[in-house]
Amino acid sequence: MCGIVGYIGHRQAAPIVMEGLKRMEYRGYDSAGLCVLEQGNLLVYKRAGKVSQTESLLDYTTMHSTLAIGHTRWATHGEPNDINAHPHTDNSGKISLIHNGIIENYSSLKKKLISEGYTFSSDTDTEVLAVFIGHLYERTGDFELAVRSALSEVDGTFGLAVLCADQPDTLIAARRGSPIVIGIGDGEYIAASDAAAIIQHTRQVIYLNDDEMAVMHRSGYVTKTIDDREIDGEIHEIDFDIEQMEKGGFDHFMLKEIYEQPATFKDAIRGRLLVEDGNVKLGGLRPIEDKLRKARRIIILACGTSWHSGLVGEYMIEQLARIPVEVEYASEFRYRSPVIYSDDVIIAISQSGETADTMAAMKEAKLKGATVMGIVNVVGSTIARESHAGVYTHAGPEIGVASTKAFTSQIAVLSLLALHLGRMNQVSQTQGKVIAEALRAIPDQIEKILQTSDAIKEIALQYSHVTNFLYLGRGFNFPVALEGALKLKEISYIHAEGYPAAEMKHGPIALIDENMPVVIIATKDEVYEKVISGIQEVRARRGKVIAIATEGDMSIAEYADHVIYIPATLPMLTPALTVIPLQILAYAIAAQRGCDIDKPRNLAKSVTVE
Ligand code: G6P
Repeated sequence: MCGIVGYIGHRQAAPIVMEGLKRMEYRGYDSAGLCVLEQGNLLVYKRAGKVSQTESLLDYTTMHSTLAIGHTRWATHGEPNDINAHPHTDNSGKISLIHNGIIENYSSLKKKLISEGYTFSSDTDTEVLAVFIGHLYERTGDFELAVRSALSEVDGTFGLAVLCADQPDTLIAARRGSPIVIGIGDGEYIAASDAAAIIQHTRQVIYLNDDEMAVMHRSGYVTKTIDDREIDGEIHEIDFDIEQMEKGGFDHFMLKEIYEQPATFKDAIRGRLLVEDGNVKLGGLRPIEDKLRKARRIIILACGTSWHSGLVGEYMIEQLARIPVEVEYASEFRYRSPVIYSDDVIIAISQSGETADTMAAMKEAKLKGATVMGIVNVVGSTIARESHAGVYTHAGPEIGVASTKAFTSQIAVLSLLALHLGRMNQVSQTQGKVIAEALRAIPDQIEKILQTSDAIKEIALQYSHVTNFLYLGRGFNFPVALEGALKLKEISYIHAEGYPAAEMKHGPIALIDENMPVVIIATKDEVYEKVISGIQEVRARRGKVIAIATEGDMSIAEYADHVIYIPATLPMLTPALTVIPLQILAYAIAAQRGCDIDKPRNLAKSVTVE
């Protein structure tokens, strides 16, 4: 969601903060802003639109400040315009605040502050917090105390950074529910909502926990709780390189990330496959090994693309381990008083490790006594840290808002997990070996599909003008149909629906006419014949069929308008392959339509509010 950067040190702060904002623009991009402290005055520059629009207001040659905060916004309260953009200042102009999250009691606070004579210019909850801190600062003259007192009175979530005009040597950052990472440099500190803004300057970071804050001066810093107890913030090392944050010659991050998948899939299984034993080694699960062995049920919690990989995981785990699995939207799970037993194992799947709904659902499950494991990409993220055990997906930074490599890495980890659980149950060494060998072959098979991308782009050209798309799949590939439809709608704004192939006749078939392209995943497996019947039904109504089929299946060309082939693998592993052409198709259609692929309208990479 919103991106936050704050800098205090000896270098000119504005370019450092603006560069950090550009690196984090994928978190939110409807408006941006910067505040610097120049000669005792807080100067705020902000604009609706991209970070570059705010940057056009700046003349670095006239700026000298070594203290600044900046923000990229994804609107929650108030439309994305210049006024609602952050930073927000208090009435005296002495306090400036950037904030990610939602202040839930902002309306009652605002009324109280208005009754005391304060005024507001924006529609945001953030301005209310800025004015509230300003009010407490007026009363006490103590900046840090004002921030702490305000934060202990607000309900809701925040990741924030705040400046005070009277304190040119202080930057304060705090968190509850929204991530804050503190980069520790040499006489300089950077507070940011993710490590992307920090990596250029230092690899040493502290991840704040909920209700913690960092008070930074050029001579040093303290980490403490919001109720003023000093704590030792553990220093971690950032585990990725700056090159991973660059486009590397590709037109878009999404395309780069699609092409990274042979490598990222390999990274997800590297060192974890014991091919000869037909088994896997997942060191991160050691603390809960016994719980896993005795699990009566597994509940997978996730949102968006991660929820789709969870569905694939359900099919894989049930097939190999014979443990019942439920896959829940984290947002639904947390509010419907779910039945959770102490011998349930919860799996939270999240690329960012910061999705608010997934975090809250996981907390609820922990509270009810369940064991929680995380399948997370971002190292050190909240879900990773708050799980009892977990497995990192090691996909590296994913910048494109539409998730691609994170999905296939999650599939890789879920297949490792399914095999691991399967070997604890009924899967023999011989069967395990077959699965392990098939898994090991996937990266080269993805590579082979990527080599056919020109042909997929040709198909895309023919359909880039349509207004609707249907995606059908069965079994392991039903979730891939959902994911294919999600990719297309996210980046091309074409309405697309994913359906289990056999459900088509219970509704969506009414939509089919000569203008409706239908993507059907028809790989050679136990449901192949049934899926072919579905293709016939679409053809009978003059729908256009784009089939994803297994190499060597020549007969399918009789029924389909277009066929995209994938190499043969085990049915349970087909999702790692069938999703690739759907990603390329969505990308190519969106590119043809001239869409802003890496920053699609209204979306955010990591949704850190409810
Ligand atoms: C947002 C992103 C999606 C992502 C979902 C879950 O909606 O735009 O791409 O799948 O959040 O994110 P997570 O980081 O928890 O996997």
